[in-house]
Amino acid sequence: MGLMRGFFIYLSHRRDLEGLFMKFSPTRNLAMRFVAGEKLEDAIRVVAELNKKGIYGTLDHLGENVSSREEAIRAANEYLRILDEIEKSGVKSHASLKLTQMGLDIGFEFCLENVKKIVEKAAKYNNFVRIDMEDSSYTDRTLEIFYKLHEEFGNHVGIVIQAYLYRSENDIKDLIKVGANVRLCKGAYKEPPEVAFPRKKDVDSNYIKLMKMLLDAHEKGVHTAIATHDENIINFAENYVRSNSIPEGKFEFQMLYGIRRDLQFKLAERGHTMRVYIPYGTEWYPYFMRRLAERPANVFFVVKNLLKG
Ligand code: FDA
Repeated sequence: MGLMRGFFIYLSHRRDLEGLFMKFSPTRNLAMRFVAGEKLEDAIRVVAELNKKGIYGTLDHLGENVSSREEAIRAANEYLRILDEIEKSGVKSHASLKLTQMGLDIGFEFCLENVKKIVEKAAKYNNFVRIDMEDSSYTDRTLEIFYKLHEEFGNHVGIVIQAYLYRSENDIKDLIKVGANVRLCKGAYKEPPEVAFPRKKDVDSNYIKLMKMLLDAHEKGVHTAIATHDENIINFAENYVRSNSIPEGKFEFQMLYGIRRDLQFKLAERGHTMRVYIPYGTEWYPYFMRRLAERPANVFFVVKNLLKG
């Protein structure tokens, strides 16, 4: 892991520094490139704009690792509101959530009940909820909650697999058996070499391998969300689906709000389903630090703005 990457992931856990960074306007301004705004209305407006360009959304209310039941219930209620607002406004969007925001650190059953209410509502609206994947200490529990909900609500709920984890190949084999809807990403957390490939090159080749496994399983009901800004992987995927006649409805591309907009528009124009992950809310600090960790060059924007005064 690069020094800078490690440093920003370390900062993402330093919640005591959060207030400092959040008040500091250059960081705040840069963070707003990756966040749709503080309110749900801001995020709905952003999805509507993207929809006009043929791009779909998945809304994320920022927040993670809550430590009280009240906070977790409040977060779950916000997701119910997201689904209501999507339905009411008619925008084309799903929702993505994190289990630690729904109380996973408080209790497994408590978290499951909280998320169940959300997936139930998504099913009622014929919509969809994606469970994001957090660090590897949560992987087993996240998959367990996913399988329980999937059994009851089918593909109104989906999961995320991280290509940097050694275990992911086996996890994908199991997910294929139930015809799951899987978002494949590289992985954004700091993991030890015992659980994750330390070298980017190996993460990238594992991504390709896992992506092929998922795409090849399209006839078993598997839906693959190819979540990356990596042009080599995207080009590979486009060639692969074409030469293997994988129907458009069986896969989609996903990118994060504010990153590689040019490529987002290009993929939508080429007739693919392109979905953008749109976070909103006041709790942007850890999300933003992970984005800096992925591309330390982003920090130069902060410094440049700082020097401008
Ligand atoms: P890579 O890091 O190799 O970047 C490829 C290129 O993309 C770079 O060269 C640069 O041009 C651009 N780029 C990437 N990151 C950038 C940034 N921050 N700022 C500017 N440019 C950037 N992770 C996780 O652990 N759990 C999850 O649930 C999710 N969910 C998720 C959803 C979606 C829709 C996406 C796109 C990503 C995630 N991730 C995630 C994050 C993912 O694991 C990964 O950290 C990032 O996508 C960055 O990796 P890339 O695949 O883009 O490749």
